[in-house]
Amino acid sequence: MTWWRQAVFYQIYPRSFQDSDGDGIGDLRGIAGRLDYLAGLGVDAIWISPLYPSPMADFGYDVADYRDVDPRFGTLADFDALLAAAHGRGLRVLLDFVPNHSSDQHPWFVASRSSRQHAKRDWYIWRDPAPGGGPPNNWISDFGGSAWEYDAASGQYYSHAFLKEQPDLNWRNPEVVAAMHDVLRFWFDRGVDGFRIDVLWHMVKAADFADNPPNPAWRPGMADMLRVLQTRSTDQPEIHAVAADLRRIADTAGERVLIGEIYLPLDRLMTYYGTADMPGVHLPFNFSLIDAPWDAAGLARLIADYEAALPPGGWPNWVLGNHDRPRIATRVGPAQARVAAMLLLTLRGTPTLYYGDELGLTDVAIPPERVQDPRELREPGLGLNRDPVRTPMAWDGGPGAGFTTGDPWLPLHDDAATRNVAAQAADAGSMLSLVRDLLALRRAHPALSLGALEGVSGEDDVLRYERSDGGERLIVALNLSAGERRFALPDHVGMPRLLLSTVPPWRTGGEDGDGRTILLAPDEGVVLLDE
Ligand code: NOJ
Repeated sequence: MTWWRQAVFYQIYPRSFQDSDGDGIGDLRGIAGRLDYLAGLGVDAIWISPLYPSPMADFGYDVADYRDVDPRFGTLADFDALLAAAHGRGLRVLLDFVPNHSSDQHPWFVASRSSRQHAKRDWYIWRDPAPGGGPPNNWISDFGGSAWEYDAASGQYYSHAFLKEQPDLNWRNPEVVAAMHDVLRFWFDRGVDGFRIDVLWHMVKAADFADNPPNPAWRPGMADMLRVLQTRSTDQPEIHAVAADLRRIADTAGERVLIGEIYLPLDRLMTYYGTADMPGVHLPFNFSLIDAPWDAAGLARLIADYEAALPPGGWPNWVLGNHDRPRIATRVGPAQARVAAMLLLTLRGTPTLYYGDELGLTDVAIPPERVQDPRELREPGLGLNRDPVRTPMAWDGGPGAGFTTGDPWLPLHDDAATRNVAAQAADAGSMLSLVRDLLALRRAHPALSLGALEGVSGEDDVLRYERSDGGERLIVALNLSAGERRFALPDHVGMPRLLLSTVPPWRTGGEDGDGRTILLAPDEGVVLLDE
C-alpha cells in the first residue's frame, strides 16, 4: 500500500503561513514552528509552494535556482531542519517542481539570451519573427498579451506561457531534460517525499508552432488568454513520455509521489495517469470541484463521471481550493463550507486541503494600492486577482494574528481577531474542530479513505454516497440547501449510528418513528455508520 493513497495533503503557501523574522513574509522556520499544529490537525503531508531563489515576479513560480532556498524563506539548512522535523512527526513533505519555465534571471536563460550561438540558446524556445514581422504565432500568455517576447539584441522571440519574466524551457532539448532530472534527484536525495508539478500540461508545445484556433466563446471582459483554445501550445502527445521519465525518477527514489497540475477536461486529464507501459504522474490533480456549481444532482454526476473515467489502477484525488482560485467559503458561504469540508474528506481518493480553509477563511478584499498579483496588475478588474486567497494565516487574536510581528505582505482578514487557530481550537463547534474531527474520523475508518464508493445520488438537494471497506459501511449525506431535508435510508442499510455532523449538536434522526427517514437540518452534512 503506497502511503499517499491514504494520505491527506495540506498546501502551504510559504509567504503566508508563518513569519519567524518579522519581515511580514512567511518562512521555513515559521513552518517548522507550526508542525505540531499540522500533526495535531491530522494531515499526513504538506506541499509547500515554491521556496527557491526567485525575483518573485510571480511569487516564486519564477525560479532563478532550482537547488536552493530563497533567502526570504531561509536557507537549505533550514529546509533540511524542517524536513527532519516533519519526518520526526510522521509528516511527509512535497515541494513544487516548476519545469515549464524558469525565471529570466536564471543563469540558464541569461546564457541562452546572450547570443544565438550560445550552447544554451536552445534550452529555451526561440523563434524568428513571423514573415511579415511580429510574433511567430498567435499564442497568448495565460497572464494576457502575446506569449512571445522580442529580444532586440538577437532579433528573435522567446516563448513565455506566463510572464515575460518566466521564459519557457525547451523540453525537446535533451540537455534541459537531463538538467531538470538532476533537480528532481537533488531534492529526492535530500529526502523530499514528492512534488507537485506546476502546469504539467503546458510543458511541451506543438513542434510546428501552428496557431491556436480562436475561441468562439470569448467575449470582452473575459481573460485575454481565453481568446484562443490552447490546442497547440498545451497538452501535446509528447508530454506523456516526459512525464513517464519524471515518474521513473520518482519511483526509483523510493516511495515518492508526483502530483500534476493540469486544468483540462476529464477525458484529457485522465491521460496523465499514463498507461501500464508509460505511467504518468501518480495523481493528476482533479480540480473539478473548484468550478462545479454547488447543487446535489450536478455534484453526484460529477463524482460518478470522474470515478467512471479513472483508468485501471488510477487513484482518485480531490481539491476544493488552491492559491490560484477563489476560496471555497467565498464560493459557497460559511455554512456550506462545512459541508464542503465533509465532502472533501469523505470522498474516495487523496484530498488536498488549502491552508486557511480549515478556519473557513474567505477571499480578502485587497485595496488597489496593495495589489501584488502580476495577473491582476496586467489585466485589472476582471476578477483574476489571486491575492485575496493568499492572505496570511491567523494563529491568534494578537497583533499580526500571530503570523508576523511586522507588517504582513498582504492584509489579514477583517475578523482575524476571532477567526484564528487559537480561538477555533477552543471551540468544539468551530470549523477547525470540524476539520480535525473529520480527519480523525477518516483515520479511524479506512472505509473513508480506501474503501469503495457506491450509491452516489443527488436528489432533493441531498448529495449521498456510501463508503465501505471489509465489513464496515458508512453513509454520507450532505444537505446542500439552507432548508430542512429528509431522505429515506435504502433497504440494504440497517440502523445507522451518527458518527459526525457538520451542525453541532446533532438534532435530527429517524423522526418518523421507525428510524428509516433521516432529517437533515439546514446546511447539515452527516456521516452515519451502518450497524
Ligand atoms: C500555476 C501556479 O499555480 C500559478 O500560481 C503560477 O502563476 C503559474 N502556474 C505559473 O507558474
